[in-house]
Amino acid sequence: MKKASMTLDRAYTIGRIDPRIYGSFIEHLGRAVYGGIYEPGHPSSDELGFRQDVLELVKKIGVPVIRYPGGNFVSGFNWEDSIGPRNQRPRRLDLAWFTTETNEVGLHEFYEWCRKANSSVMYSVNLGTRGPEEARQVVEYCNHPGGTQLSDLRKKNGQQDPFGIKLWCLGNEMDGPWQMGHKTAREYGRTANEAGKLMKWMDPTIELVACGSSSTEMPTFGDWELQMLDECYDTVDYVSLHRYYGNPTNDTPGFLARSMDLDDFIRTVVSICDAVKGKKHAKKTLNLSFDEWNVWYHSNEQDQEIWKQDKWGRALPLLEDVYNFEDALLAGSMLITFLRNADRVKIACLAQLVNVIAPIMTRNGGGCWAQTIFYPYMHASNFGRGTSLRGIVSCPDYACQDYDHVPYIDAAATMGDDGSVTVFAVNRDMQEDFAFEIDLRSFGKLQLDEHILLHHPDVKAVNTEENPNNVVPTVGPGGVIDGGKATVTLPALSWNVLRFVPVKE
Ligand code: AHR
Repeated sequence: MKKASMTLDRAYTIGRIDPRIYGSFIEHLGRAVYGGIYEPGHPSSDELGFRQDVLELVKKIGVPVIRYPGGNFVSGFNWEDSIGPRNQRPRRLDLAWFTTETNEVGLHEFYEWCRKANSSVMYSVNLGTRGPEEARQVVEYCNHPGGTQLSDLRKKNGQQDPFGIKLWCLGNEMDGPWQMGHKTAREYGRTANEAGKLMKWMDPTIELVACGSSSTEMPTFGDWELQMLDECYDTVDYVSLHRYYGNPTNDTPGFLARSMDLDDFIRTVVSICDAVKGKKHAKKTLNLSFDEWNVWYHSNEQDQEIWKQDKWGRALPLLEDVYNFEDALLAGSMLITFLRNADRVKIACLAQLVNVIAPIMTRNGGGCWAQTIFYPYMHASNFGRGTSLRGIVSCPDYACQDYDHVPYIDAAATMGDDGSVTVFAVNRDMQEDFAFEIDLRSFGKLQLDEHILLHHPDVKAVNTEENPNNVVPTVGPGGVIDGGKATVTLPALSWNVLRFVPVKE
């Protein structure tokens, strides 16, 4: 068996973990809303048409914040279409996804759904085809107590108290030519600044996310952040990052190393934020909102076929990636990367939550099940709270196309407020188990309460409605603790959650 080690000390911390790093995203896209969270007439639907089976799975994860309503969709969206009597709401063509949006579910319904899901709304405004005034108006509608036309309209529409939405995205992926109202960095930075200024004058308690780059592969990446932040640094609170990975060439070792790109991306954006801070002699430090992350490639060809057959259809089954076991391993590594950057990554949204590149799948009129990526996400959200620890990992590495040194063991550790320590670890080795020694001496007497393991002999194994328990967590082999050092077996190709709890004397 190969050997690796992790040294932890309770004094060596990265920072508090903002629970919002376990956020997610629901866009008016495909069957995320219609047929996903909302399906009136489904046997499990409540009086509002929300599927209870989906809600139960969402609650199992514990999702503190959900970005809405887009995504690309938001760049052509009129928020006013989504309020008022439902039978009077307009049907519109959505140019982002070539579908028809009926607006059956809108702002009030989504807010209510989020409440039922024990979550909160992260609302994005349209800075593509619209601008600062419309952005300001939606803040007034949502958050102003009353006595104005817009806030009274909210009351008339059934919501007496302000929604009190705290987190707002200033547009979406405005660096992308695919975006309605695509802008240069300067144009966007100016617009975001003006919109943000008005929104904060309206409600000074809100926080704002400015659009960073859509991916590290954008030709403008880096310069975009520099120029747009030069325009809006003082007004905004977070910069967004988006990143999706795929494995179209079937190179599992290279695919599992993609979290190193994620780490580079985060470090680069942190450096740029701090450079702009220096240039502006600013006191404020900007943090990051990684508000779209996931694996996305399985459904690309299928989507082209759908559009060929039914362009402008309603709730088309778009972006329905079926995730396999190796996708779950990379999702685990991405979560580990966020934990290791917890000092600057304060928000992260798994894109998305239901049906559309999602951990949860449904069939219209049928069942609902968890995809492979559901499990690392649920584990990290359930157990990765408290303080992120600066663990020193020592282990052998391998080379792949993009990196000469990829550590076989990718790990992060958290310290709960109850004195527990949780270690999350991916073993990227395709063949060999590792004996993983964790130095826990500074934490007092701990015992290994649980070793949760996600492993499957086939990296391409998936969960389906017929076989939802194909890739599910099991009890791991565990290990021993001796003199404050735990030695645990991490099976080849596996996601591991090691939960150490204080020994009750
Ligand atoms: O999440 C799917 C899409 O990916 C979003 O609409 C867009 O922001 C990104 O390109």
